[in-house]
Amino acid sequence: MLTDRINTLSESITIAITTLAQELKAEGKDILSFSAGEPDFGTPQVIKDAAIEAINNNFTRYTAVDGIPDLKAAVANKLKRDNNLEYAPNQIIVNNGAKHSLFNLFSATIQNGDEVIIPAPYWVTYPELVKYCGGTVVEIQTHDYSAFKITPEQLQNAITPKTKMLVLTTPSNPTGSVYSKEELVALGKVLEGTEIIVASDEMYEKLIYDGTFTSAAAVSEDMFKRTVTINGLSKSVAMTGWRFGYMAAYDSELIKATKKLQSQSTSNINSITQKAAIVGLDGQADDDIEMMRKAFKERRDEAVELFNKVDGLSVLKPDGAFYLFVNIQEISNDSLNFAKDLLAKKEVAVVPGVAFGSEGYFRFSFATDIESIRTGIKRIEEYIKEMNS
Ligand SMILES: Cc1ncc(COP(=O)(O)O)c(C=O)c1O
Repeated sequence: MLTDRINTLSESITIAITTLAQELKAEGKDILSFSAGEPDFGTPQVIKDAAIEAINNNFTRYTAVDGIPDLKAAVANKLKRDNNLEYAPNQIIVNNGAKHSLFNLFSATIQNGDEVIIPAPYWVTYPELVKYCGGTVVEIQTHDYSAFKITPEQLQNAITPKTKMLVLTTPSNPTGSVYSKEELVALGKVLEGTEIIVASDEMYEKLIYDGTFTSAAAVSEDMFKRTVTINGLSKSVAMTGWRFGYMAAYDSELIKATKKLQSQSTSNINSITQKAAIVGLDGQADDDIEMMRKAFKERRDEAVELFNKVDGLSVLKPDGAFYLFVNIQEISNDSLNFAKDLLAKKEVAVVPGVAFGSEGYFRFSFATDIESIRTGIKRIEEYIKEMNS
């Protein structure tokens, strides 16, 4: 009954672990979950007020498929102000979350035989979407000793005549690593003279704790022309449930193609979310964003210190996002088993590294309160001591 295409998709291990943790919690177990990929804060009040106003004004009808003009202008202004990128309205489309942006982008550009380079560890959705579109995933493995970043040499070696796209995630989910301007320039040089598209997923852009953020498209004229910038508000303004994302590309024909797909599938995104997103983008929520960033930074600092005191574990201090990618190689090279056993014995949920394409690690989300983080790390330490005794 089902198509081969749908059968290429695997179920997300992240969601599987989160669901299992929720079930155990419902049974009354004292589960501490560090598996979720979303902020534990509420959406800022100014954004909620804009949505309530939109409802009261009956802003509840179909809109332009690619987003209302005010919203597209807010996206363009944000890209200019924060990223030094200049896009016209026909180079921007608004989607139902950045995941939908990626789905539309991959659907419009990847077909049978195309190769897509994905640095590992990666966000779980990329390889699934590539396979769904008929493409082949070419992984470049990175490690904690290279700060989970690919080098120009690794990129050069991965390129073949079939390479269609390179996916970059900065800051990264699951590692929090951030590419510097110089590193992006060096990667861009490798791509010069090719037709390779760069999909730059910048979802965690606002969550930077050390150093500065640079958009891939901003490092050279050549990179501007080949890069599709993907971003949204889920992580930066705690709007995961509202479903807002966008992409911007130099090639307006590409944007037009994704608009055609969107017009025949989902149509416009929720009209109320569109009004709310303007406020999330135009600076009115900047104080809230800064408050959340500071809270995440404090949690990161303490969690890194605590983890690095545990015998057998080590973790890099990530420059951005809200994840730690903890190395467990001294203890286990079966991260799925480790995560399941930890959940069963200590009621702590983390996501195994294998879900992100890198064995010997787990992802720990610090988008939760500090007391839970402290207790969770203590339980992980006890678990490891008991394993070794
Ligand atoms: C790297 C990355 N890109 C995109 C997304 C999707 O975000 P959205 O909620 O806008 O679909 C996520 C969510 O986990 C993510 O981690």
